[in-house]
Amino acid sequence: MTLAAESLRISIADIPNLDTPEPFVRRLPAEPDGFERIELPSGHTAVCLTSYADVRTVLFDSTASRELCNVDGGPSFMPTTWAPEVLINLDNPVHGLVRRFVAHEFSAHSLAGLAPTVEKLTIAACEQLERAAEPDLVRWVFRVVPAQTTLTLLGLPTDRAAWMNEQGRIVQYADRDDIPGIEAAWLQLWDWVGSLISDSSEHDDTGLLAVYKRRAAQPEYADIDDSLLQGTVMGIVLGGDNNIATMLTKTAYAALAHPPLYRLVASDPQSYVPKLVEEILRLMPLGTPGTFPRLLLNPLETSKGTLPVGTIVYPWVNAANRDPSVFHEPLMIDLNRPPRKHLQYGYGMHRCMGSALAQMELITVLTLVFTRYPDAALAIEPSRVPWDFGVGLRRPSALPVVLH
Ligand code: HEM
Repeated sequence: MTLAAESLRISIADIPNLDTPEPFVRRLPAEPDGFERIELPSGHTAVCLTSYADVRTVLFDSTASRELCNVDGGPSFMPTTWAPEVLINLDNPVHGLVRRFVAHEFSAHSLAGLAPTVEKLTIAACEQLERAAEPDLVRWVFRVVPAQTTLTLLGLPTDRAAWMNEQGRIVQYADRDDIPGIEAAWLQLWDWVGSLISDSSEHDDTGLLAVYKRRAAQPEYADIDDSLLQGTVMGIVLGGDNNIATMLTKTAYAALAHPPLYRLVASDPQSYVPKLVEEILRLMPLGTPGTFPRLLLNPLETSKGTLPVGTIVYPWVNAANRDPSVFHEPLMIDLNRPPRKHLQYGYGMHRCMGSALAQMELITVLTLVFTRYPDAALAIEPSRVPWDFGVGLRRPSALPVVLH
């Protein structure tokens, strides 16, 4: 097993369209203080930190503000602001309260019982794929299972999966040329989530909606009002669905585009799927930026010196995950790479709340797919695979396959 993986030498640069472009508008000329500066799509200048150690340092700074970035005219990669109640846009102390309120249900331990449901949903989706006149893994499996899982987790029927996934796709794609489209999709999801919170007839009594509503009624969570609850559920709806769909799609594409890699993983999915998932996660953010900018409210010590209060900082995780002092030959997809914590789920107070859910789904769905279709191949040349090139969502929009 080890020898087979060692004999494969694939750089992500060899796989058409897979690698992520730089997320900023341009690098700015060097200044005497030695910090690299960039222009964000919002027009702001930000210090761009790229080493593994410095990126971790800024992500670990629990005083660096997201709240002050998510305002009209604030420093951002996104063309619109998001609701201030969504976890990633909250600062302490409210952030800490909401995170405590919501996080227990997202531990690996709490989610273990959900794996058989994900398996069942994946098998049903694969059966649809096999019946399709033109089998497409994205349409029939990868955009279906995470949406259905999210709805099940919330205690809802799965019949809204396609609608929810498409609205989320529009929001996360964040097309600068279609602001009204982003706002309309956001509003549809936001209002729907609001109606689920005010009306209990649509959800069951055991899913997360019911659990969180009961918890919000406890005195220690008196400050969790309906709009904070709405923002929290919105984070689950957006992250739980399209984020996982994006990584499923990119991981499968990497293997399908390089048939020896696909064959190797299919030869022992239990061993190789988790390693492939880890490598593609290390190398691939969800969209182009990966993490959001912060505004410093305290000076920050970095390897290049101290950044003053008021600095806008972009922790460029994609560069940190390719830091050659941490990851040997960083561009290679190396299934024998020793475990070393990549930062693709972030770090510190805003570290991804759904990482355990994402890991479980990525490994469960892909293990089933590689096991069921050991000889699958792309039906078209990799360079002809169509892509969604969005800001928060960058992935093949279809993976036409021959299943054999
Ligand atoms: C492979 C899939 C995923 C990746 C790569 C990912 C990545 C990330 C990253 C990088 C952050 C931190 C951003 C920053 O600090 O600027 C984050 C935060 C977050 N993610 Fe994920 N995510 C994934 C899946 C999910 C899922 C499945 C959910 C929901 C169930 C989710 C919900 C959230 C939430 C709520 C936050 C904000 C946490 C906070 O501010 O405390 N994500 N994610």
